[in-house]
Amino acid sequence: MTRILSFVLAMSMAASAWGLKVDERVENFRLFDHQGGSHELYYYDDAKAVVFMVQGNGCPIVRNAVPRFTELSEEYAEQGVQFFMLNSNLQDNRVSVAKEAATYRYDIPILVDETQIIGESLDLVRTGAVFVLDPKTWKVTYTGAIDDRLDYEVQRKEASNHYLKDAIDSMLTGQAIAVASTESLGCLINFPSKTARAEHANISYSEDVAPILMDNCVSCHREGGIGPFAMTDYNVVRGFSLMIREVIRTKRMPPWHADPLHGDWGNDRSLSSEEIQTLVHWIEAGAPRGEGEDLLATSEVVYPEWVAAEELGEPDYIIDIPAMEIPATGVVDYQYHHVRNPIGKDVWVRAAEIMPGDRAVLHHTITAFGDEITEGKYKGRLKYKGGLRGYAPGLTNQAYPQDTGTFLPADTTIEFQMHYTPVGRATVDESKMGVWVYDEPPHHHIISRFMANNKIRIPPHAKNHAESVEQVIPKDALLYNLMAHAHYRGKAAKFVARYPDGTEEVLLNIPNYDFNWQTDYEFKEPKFIPAGTTLIQTNWWDNSAQNAANPDPTIEVTWGEQSWEEMLFGAILYRFLTDEESAAKRGNQDLASAR
Ligand code: HEC
Repeated sequence: MTRILSFVLAMSMAASAWGLKVDERVENFRLFDHQGGSHELYYYDDAKAVVFMVQGNGCPIVRNAVPRFTELSEEYAEQGVQFFMLNSNLQDNRVSVAKEAATYRYDIPILVDETQIIGESLDLVRTGAVFVLDPKTWKVTYTGAIDDRLDYEVQRKEASNHYLKDAIDSMLTGQAIAVASTESLGCLINFPSKTARAEHANISYSEDVAPILMDNCVSCHREGGIGPFAMTDYNVVRGFSLMIREVIRTKRMPPWHADPLHGDWGNDRSLSSEEIQTLVHWIEAGAPRGEGEDLLATSEVVYPEWVAAEELGEPDYIIDIPAMEIPATGVVDYQYHHVRNPIGKDVWVRAAEIMPGDRAVLHHTITAFGDEITEGKYKGRLKYKGGLRGYAPGLTNQAYPQDTGTFLPADTTIEFQMHYTPVGRATVDESKMGVWVYDEPPHHHIISRFMANNKIRIPPHAKNHAESVEQVIPKDALLYNLMAHAHYRGKAAKFVARYPDGTEEVLLNIPNYDFNWQTDYEFKEPKFIPAGTTLIQTNWWDNSAQNAANPDPTIEVTWGEQSWEEMLFGAILYRFLTDEESAAKRGNQDLASAR
């Protein structure tokens, strides 16, 4: 192609290259990056500028532009300018983006917009474009090209105009940006739902929207539930629709913090990409009522007395948890109640279930049992011997697997860790625990173990401080549950299995840990763990002022029970295989191929 032709082509294609306008305010969002991190845009409001480049796999213009973009990111890192890439391509996903990043050695986090809802709202048209945001206002200050070096099929050695660099320099020195928008080249992004936008008004509330809310939200958002408003009919949903869009864009709701790329969880609360698109497109079309029945208004939602009762009948024992007065407002620290085991004999527990007294205020319960420490530094605390089932809204299965149970001695103290959140009215919570027992000891003994590292030291102002703890599983085992715990400064957590052959697998990645939600992640299918495997839990903490929950960014934080102290803590639930099961599982295979 001749130079002239290529220029003409570029001009005609570039005319529609950009939909995002200078001075437009960008709404908040949260996305995973290609390495499993999670980023919320508005977290970066301490940056001097936030710079994005629209990336797409296989686009030569992007591949050509990244080295310069990376140079700029390195040049401005010290000055507090934050750089990201953003991929909204229909055909790309986190795995393929990670591969492209590895091949072309991209260092900058690439945020992957797999549902395309963020790219749609930013009105992205082509990859290769850059845009700059002012974190004080979240308004766009520059859109267009990095510089004038690239053209379709033409590359100059040197650029003569450095648009992006000039824009950043102007922002750093508080001057007006001389050239705030330029034309940029790149590959067109296919947003099928953008061309079909008119059809979004036909999304059926009755048939498409209400069933999603019913299945994913109403377990909490119902009368007397923990959700702050009850989704009782169309009018409520319509009124909250903009909030619903916001909490979906920022991944605050439904409360689920695991990375979907690792592990398959029985208690997964997350929405699928299709469900997210349906809800967001319906809301962006004005949340039309349309025809048909209102499922939310016509379905009666009732809490079962005991969830396990359906399968196991009424509990054999009911243990009262001391009543707790919850004020209307404020913060209630974690409560630890100790109850002497009232059962009066040794039992094998088949199932244990917490029935909340007031579902609106009880966020979670974690139970353990052991001996109360009578002297020394930890007087009044528990020396843990094991755990029983806990509670979190929406948990459905509180029985242990068939023929599997946990031994609860007569002479022990049960600890209930209760997390309450005030909801605007004072109340008294009187929760209780139902216990179902085996008549005969089961064949398999459930083992619940804690992961803990009390040597942690988190420096003041650290944004991403990591520490780990390891534990070896001595025999072939089936792993059922994983739980990671930290306090207000908790930012992320991860469980990795290092197998005896040295290979590693991420079992659970929680890139956006939230202290308010103590989720016990239940494997859909128990995970086989060969003897000699090391489980490694890593927690990350954000001790900076950017962490809105941080009580004090200026101090070094060490281990402690109180929420202003920190913990590297986790819980794992497993059972050993019998020798016959191990032999059957392994056959003649070696360790590595046994999994
Ligand atoms: C496991 C319980 C639970 C589930 C499931 C749940 N929510 Fe929530 N929701 C809450 C709680 C509790 C809050 C209060 C804020 C918080 O704790 O994060 C909340 C807050 C909200 C808010 C913000 C209200 C406000 O003004 O702050 C919206 C909107 C919302 N939820 C929508 C949804 C939608 C939509 C779904 C389903 C797709 C959903 N939630 C699923 C428990 C839940």
